[in-house]
Amino acid sequence: MASTSLAPLTTAFTIIILTFLNSSITVSASAGICYKSIISFGDSLADTGNLFHLDSPSSSSDAPHFFLPPYGETYFHHPTGRCSDGRLVVDFIAESLGLPLLPPYLARKDTSGSLDFLEGVNFAVVGATALDGSFFRERGIDNPATNASLATELGWFKDMLQSFCKKSDCKDFLQSSLVLMGEIGGNDYNYPLLQGRNIEEVQSFVPLVVQTISSAIQELIELGAVTLVVPGNFPIGCSASYLTYYQSSKKQDYDTDTGCIKWLNNFAKYHNQVLQSEINRIRELNPHATIIYADYYNAAMRLYRFPNKYGFKGEVLKACCGAGGPYNYNSTVPCGYQPAASCDDPSLYVSWDGLHLTEAAYRWIARGLLEGPFSTPPINTVCSPASTNFLGPRLEY
Ligand SMILES: *[C@@H]1O[C@H](CO)[C@@H](O)[C@H](O)[C@H]1NC(C)=O
Ligand SMILES: *[C@@H]1O[C@H](CO)[C@@H](O)[C@H](O)[C@H]1NC(C)=O
Repeated sequence: MASTSLAPLTTAFTIIILTFLNSSITVSASAGICYKSIISFGDSLADTGNLFHLDSPSSSSDAPHFFLPPYGETYFHHPTGRCSDGRLVVDFIAESLGLPLLPPYLARKDTSGSLDFLEGVNFAVVGATALDGSFFRERGIDNPATNASLATELGWFKDMLQSFCKKSDCKDFLQSSLVLMGEIGGNDYNYPLLQGRNIEEVQSFVPLVVQTISSAIQELIELGAVTLVVPGNFPIGCSASYLTYYQSSKKQDYDTDTGCIKWLNNFAKYHNQVLQSEINRIRELNPHATIIYADYYNAAMRLYRFPNKYGFKGEVLKACCGAGGPYNYNSTVPCGYQPAASCDDPSLYVSWDGLHLTEAAYRWIARGLLEGPFSTPPINTVCSPASTNFLGPRLEY
């Protein structure tokens, strides 16, 4: 669990929280839209179609597997460039704030500039890393999806501000936006770890990855952002891709409760600790800003620990969509390519394709962030959402 303290936050911020709490009690019937827009950065956990627009394949046989059916089957009923069967955490956050699903920034090319992004914009790209692509190229680590990094995404954001600020009040736009800083950084570890690099080498990337995320946050605050959500890494030792690649006959590698690989989860926890210390540091430097840590690790971990409680059935570590193997994951035949096939009911699975989660899992994670206890402070206490009906019946935590 996050152990962040509110101590460094100023009285001014406490007053803001209290004001929101009060107003959510007194005007809950008209529950105002408190953020006018969402600005999202990140990777495949958040991309709502940027890579789709960046990389238009000439034929469907060149298409990345996540641009093909059954991606999108549950909610959109066609592939949208999202790496899931349906909506992502960012989509559920947008819905809860009464905002439209986030258009991908690169979609503007195909709409001749008619998208105005006033209610939200997404810069996340499938495969993006926090560190620049050159960092991995120099080390012989392959990124098969994209060269886009957090710096690329920030560059697009600044381009957008340039044209945007002529037409409207930029300061107000940034001040009234919820900025989602990822998840980003997971791929900085996924590529080397799933290409056989040893954990000591990959561990040495952690301070660099965290520093890159931190600099981006600092830059966004300097540009005028005041509310930012910074997610940590998922428990990668529970991911079907990692469980397949690092399959082991050593019983002590596995957590007896969940079947997840302990040392990989410990690595994710290590990244998250370094990230949280850095967040505490930049909170002190920016007392007027609210920097929310989103504990993706524990928000996902509860689904692996208590699958039945959250409506998941069967073998919780197995992917819904795959081509067989002990975890229904085979990196040479990923979901989207024949003969990989989807399960009958993705809502009973946590893992969609072995790397990404199902809409059902993302819904629970979004809920854990919005209502708590997996964000510090919970997004809903900073600002009251328009509706949580879409999240389904309330559960006791
Ligand atoms: C990434 O950049 C390198 C060097 O500029 C280039 O050779 C490669 O094709 C690019 N890869 C992708 C996926 O765009
Ligand atoms: C993955 O799929 C390939 C191609 O169908 C097959 O040759 C290979 O044995 C499979 N690997 C596993 C672990 O099932």
